[in-house]
Amino acid sequence: MRNYDLEFLKRFSLVILFLLAVMVALIFAGIHLGKSIPPEVSKSAQQQTVNRIAPTGSVYAGAEGDLRKQAAADAALARAKANVAFGGTLDGKVIYDGLCGACHKSGSGGAPTLAGGQFKARLAKGEETLIKHAIEGFTGAAGVMPARGGNPSVSDEQIKATVEWMLAQ
Ligand code: HEC
Repeated sequence: MRNYDLEFLKRFSLVILFLLAVMVALIFAGIHLGKSIPPEVSKSAQQQTVNRIAPTGSVYAGAEGDLRKQAAADAALARAKANVAFGGTLDGKVIYDGLCGACHKSGSGGAPTLAGGQFKARLAKGEETLIKHAIEGFTGAAGVMPARGGNPSVSDEQIKATVEWMLAQ
C-alpha cells in the first residue's frame, strides 16, 4: 500500500469511530428520554376501560324512591341550615352570650364592655362603622377585635343585630 493510502485510512477510521461514539450516545439519550416520559394511553384502550367499569344498570325505585330522595335532600338542607352559627338567630343577646361576650363581658384584651358606657364613646364613630368593624375586624388602640368575633359562619345580619343589641344595653 502506498503511504498516502495509509494516511487516508487512519483519518477515515477516526471519523468512523467518532460517528460510532455519537450513535451510542444518541441511543442512550433516547432510552433515557423514553423512560422519563409517561406512556400515552391510546383512545381505544381508554374507551375500553370506561366501558369495563361502567355501571351495568340503575334501579328505578318508583314513587317511594322519589319520596326518599326528596326526604334525603330535605335532611341535607336542614343540616346545612344548622351549620349557620347560632341556628341563624337574629337575637343579639344569644350571639353575644355565645360568642362576643367571651371578650366583651370581661373586657379581656381591651374589649369594650357593655358596662360603664364604653360603647357610648364608640358610637361617636357611627353605628355603621361599628358594624363594619365587627364584620371585618378592627385593630384599635385598645386591642384586636377579630372579624365576626372569630366565627366566620356568623352572617352580616347577625353581627348587625348583635351590635345593635350591644349598643342598646
Ligand atoms: C377575641 C375577643 C373578642 C371577641 C370574641 C369579640 N370582640 Fe369585639 N372587640 C374586641 C376588642 C379587643 C375590641 C377593641 C378594639 C380596639 O378598639 O382596639 C373590640 C371592639 C369591638 C367593637 C367596637 C369597634 C370600634 O370600631 O370601635 C364592636 C362593635 C365589637 N367589638 C363587636 C363585637 C361583636 C358583635 C362580637 C361578636 C360577634 C365581638 N365584638 C367579639 C375583642 C373581641
